[in-house]
Formats: sequence, C-alpha cells, structure tokens
Amino acid sequence: MKHNELDSFPKDFLWGSASAAYQVEGAYQEDGKGLSVWDEFVKIEGTTFKDTNGNIAVDHYHRYKEDIALMHEQGLKAYRFSIAWSRILPQGKGEINQAGIDFYNSLIDELVKYNIEPIVTIYHWDLPNNLQAEYGGWESRVIVKDFTNYAKILFEHFSDRVKYWVTLNEQNVFITHGYLIGSHPPAVRNLKRALHANHIANLANASVIKLFKENGYPGKIGPSFNFGPVYALDSYPENVLAKIDTEELMNFFWLDVYAFGKYPRTVLKQLEKLNLAPEITSEDTKLLAQGIPDFLGLNYYQTATVVENLNTSLGEIGKMNNSGKKGTGSSLEIPLISKFVSNPYLEKTNWDWTVDPVGIRFALRTIESRYQLPVLITENGLGEFDVLEDGEIHDSYRIDYLQQHLVEIQKAITDGVHVLGYCTWSFTDLLSWLNGYQKRYGFVYIDRNETEHEGSLNRYKKNSFYWYQEVIKTNGSKISKVSED
Ligand code: BG6
Repeated sequence: MKHNELDSFPKDFLWGSASAAYQVEGAYQEDGKGLSVWDEFVKIEGTTFKDTNGNIAVDHYHRYKEDIALMHEQGLKAYRFSIAWSRILPQGKGEINQAGIDFYNSLIDELVKYNIEPIVTIYHWDLPNNLQAEYGGWESRVIVKDFTNYAKILFEHFSDRVKYWVTLNEQNVFITHGYLIGSHPPAVRNLKRALHANHIANLANASVIKLFKENGYPGKIGPSFNFGPVYALDSYPENVLAKIDTEELMNFFWLDVYAFGKYPRTVLKQLEKLNLAPEITSEDTKLLAQGIPDFLGLNYYQTATVVENLNTSLGEIGKMNNSGKKGTGSSLEIPLISKFVSNPYLEKTNWDWTVDPVGIRFALRTIESRYQLPVLITENGLGEFDVLEDGEIHDSYRIDYLQQHLVEIQKAITDGVHVLGYCTWSFTDLLSWLNGYQKRYGFVYIDRNETEHEGSLNRYKKNSFYWYQEVIKTNGSKISKVSED
C-alpha cells in the first residue's frame, strides 16, 4: 500500500546499535575466561579470511568506556551486545567466574549512566568449548539444562538493569553454518545432525523463555532471527510455489516454532518421509508451547529470489563470497524445491549481498500478519570497505543504505506493524566471522587490519556517525522527507 503521510516513530523508539562479544571484546584468555568453540575453530588454518580471529578483536574489553562515551555522544538510546558464556562460566557450567560478572556489571552500569538501554544477547555463537568437547554441544539434550542455568545466572545478576533479552542469535545461521555447510564450528556437514541440533536449540530457547516468565523477571525476552524473505522470480505458478516452499523451509521452520511452538506441518511431513525429522517427544511439544517470546528479534540483511528446481540431486550449496571480490559467490540449489537466482531489480554489495530496503518492510509485514508479535529490529547494516583519510571516513553509501531501510521501517509502522526499536549492525567496526576486519559495518571506524599486531585500534567517527546522531535527535522525523517518492 502507499501512504500520503507516514506516521512518526514512536516517542520511546529504541534507536540503537549492536555488537557481539566474540566480534568486539578480544581479551580471549583474560580474567578467567574459558575458551569458546570459536577460539578453537579459528586456530585451524583456512577457516576464516586470512586466518583472522577475535583474540584481540577491537579490544572492546579494555576500551568499553571509550566506546560507550562515543555512544553517548551519538545519542544512542539502546545498545545490543552479547555476553560471552565462557566469561561467566569458563567450563560452560559449574563455577562462576566473578571477574566475568564484574566486567558485564561495569559495562551495564556505564550504559545506564548515560541512559542507554542495554539489550543483552545471551548467546551469540561462542559456545564454551568444554561443552562441545564433553557432550557435543548443541547435539546433546544436556545443553538445555546448562543453557538455562547460564541464562538464570544472567537474569539473577543483571535483570535489575536489563529489560530486553535476546535468547539465541540467529539459530538458523549458527545451525546451518555449523552443521550443514560446515563453515562455522563444529564444522559438521550432515542434514540429519543439523535438524537434531536445531531441535535441541529450539528446546533451549523455549526453556529459557519459560524460566524468565515463571520467575517473573521484569522485561521482555525473545530470539533474534535472520529473516531473508523470499520472492518468486516471476508469476509462473511453479516459481511461486517454489517461493512458498523455500520460505517455509528457510524461515517459518524457525519462526513458527518460536511463535506457535510448532513446526510447519508441510516441512515436518517431508522430513519424516526422508527419515530426517528430529525426535520430538510429548514433553518437547509441551515445552515449546511454554516458550513463546514477548517479541521477535529481526536481523535483516537481504532477500532471496527463486525459481523452481527439478533436480533431485544436491547441486550448488552456495559458495560464499568472503573476500569482498564481487561476483565470487555462487547460488544455492535445494533439490526439488528451488534455485536461487539474481533479482534483476536489485543491486549487490561487494560481498554479493543483495541490497533490498523494501525487503525489511516485507519481513516486518510477514511477522505481523503471521504472528502478531512486536518486533525489535536487532540487526541491519551494510558491510563494506571503508577508507580512512585524514582522520575521516566518507561512508555516504552506508548512510544511503540505512536511510532507505529506515524509510521502509517507517512505512511498516504506518502499515500497522509494532516495531519496538532499530539496532544497526554495528556500532564500531568489528570482526566479521568469516570475512575478517576489512568488511566494516560500524559508525565508528577502528584502525586495525587482518593481522593481529597491526593497527593502533584508535577510533574514528565516520560520516554515518553524525548522520545517525541527527536521526536520533529528531526521532527520525526527517528521514522520509529525503527519499519519499
Ligand atoms: C549476522 C550476525 O548474521 O550478520 C553477525 O548476527 C554478523 O554476527 C552479521 O556479523 C553480518 O554478517 P557478516 O558475515 O558480514 O559478518
């Protein structure tokens, strides 16, 4: 639909930005922190771009006060960050590391001092390595208890100041990459194991939400999902059906479980026929129904476009472009379901990610019509090369990207979607898991490159920093004027 005038952003809209522990903190062995699966994975040659790792990352662990002062200067209303499980529980369970609690207490206090709302992600992929070694991490049901216990420790220590909790970050991504594509730890390539681990992650998510509600902690809780809406290339009916199938398999397969406590029946039926369905006990079904979130966290980057696929065999599994050399990525093919194709209407980034601002409105509208849950946009941003010149970074391309997405969000709000806030990815530049430090997302440029010891780690404000400062100051009231058609 078209609107003559757009609604204003709500008065209490959470204008935010985000990060994740492994990508920013560094200090990977300091103050009693245990190792995570990522600390181990990056030691294997060739797993990441130029073998980059988060050992130092952007040194947020030591510079968080400087970073939060910059957030204050920008006027941020919210900051989403994750807690490193192995900083709190070095072995993933058992004894608490007081220094870990102290670090996050100080970080949260510093945010509160400046009236910046802390949004805490409980799990952003850095599983304590001990749990992987001891029982296979997400492949064991034991993790449900350990994850719930870890979350309880966080609620007990921080829920007096933290009102927004994200349970799992992008379960669809860490399961697909960790157990199907094999590009994240534990580097498994097995669909049955992927679906099994995914079911256990669903249980862990539900168990934490159930505990949060039963214990009556104040605030709101929900998972963050990487939602890539799917389009059919054209109106050829079989292509439209391919869109429906792909969307059920790649989006509703997770979102329905979060919001309804149930898998979509069509997907489950096909998995059962292929003997790939996870074991779902009646206790599981009960737990999933008790773990309905207060909001859905939306991480939005791009849409996909598909046509039907008559091939029965697994073709391309989608080679990722992790180098920033445009055109080096290849597309995914799902046997008898769909082939991913380029959308003729959309541009791509240097990492071959489709740029589609309307897609975020599409995602928001889909969540509203299917689930009627409020949405907290927990990630959205542009990863690009940036150039530091005389202390300045002219990232007009990032401003355009964010601005166009914000206009679509404002349209979705006008449509009737309940959007709680918007966290850009990311506040400072950080380590992009498989793409090194050269793929930059931040408002704040960090002087560091792929190798461990090069770069001053000094912080520089990009042009987008000032642009977002103005957006926040005016509560988004000037965004649409710039680009309304
Ligand atoms: C999301 C993750 O998938 O996308 C972030 O939650 C990640 O941790 C972001 O950094 C961007 O992806 P990438 O691969 O460009 O770093």
